[in-house]
Amino acid sequence: MSKVIVMDHPLIQHKIGLIRREETGSKDFRALINEIAMLMCYEATRDLKLTEVEIKTPICNAIVKELKGKKLAIVPILRAGLGMVEGMLALIPAAKVGHIGLYRDPETLQPVEYYCKLPEDSAEREIFVVDPMLATGGSSAAAITMLKERGVKNIHFMCIIAAPEGVKKMQETHPDVDIYIGALDSHLNEHGYIVPGLGDAGDRIFGTK
Ligand code: PRP
Ligand code: URA
Repeated sequence: MSKVIVMDHPLIQHKIGLIRREETGSKDFRALINEIAMLMCYEATRDLKLTEVEIKTPICNAIVKELKGKKLAIVPILRAGLGMVEGMLALIPAAKVGHIGLYRDPETLQPVEYYCKLPEDSAEREIFVVDPMLATGGSSAAAITMLKERGVKNIHFMCIIAAPEGVKKMQETHPDVDIYIGALDSHLNEHGYIVPGLGDAGDRIFGTK
């Protein structure tokens, strides 16, 4: 079964409190989403494997540690996931970036696919799928299925706010995928919105409503 890690870092919690506020406008919302993504990236990469290499400092030879094994890629789920990319890249600037386009049909709440462009060597990379919201779990589960259909195996999922319903759906559909969560909320309302949540993340990032 996958790991579910709810991050309790005080800076993450403080900033999530700010993005929940209805008076937070798009400019601040965008900046905060990136800052939270950066802090979450720091925590979520804690388990990456290291190896030792010999280098030469200006003083002498030394054994230092460097990241071992697979290179990384970030895959935001469009649109709202885009808001997290810059923050992730701030910490892992060499990561490649893929994109998956999905939107949730407002009536059926089912995910509708419209785009997928991944780095060519994605199957050899460790992938971080990012989306600020995990509500029913339909979008993230479908995005990860799309990745697996293209041969990707090492997948992590990172979201800022999750509902228990979405966590359950992800664990049932993709028990091999670890889930990193900024805050685990109470439930979904009758329209499939997370309660208390923050409203529509895409609209708040891009100012479309
Ligand atoms: C939002 C959010 C997730 C999805 C979560 O996207 O960014 O992708 O809903 O809901 P789910 O877990 O029930 O699938 P939305 O469909 O609003 O698209 P957008 O990012 O283009 O606004
Ligand atoms: N998508 C959002 O942007 N917000 C929610 O609360 C649920 C799905």
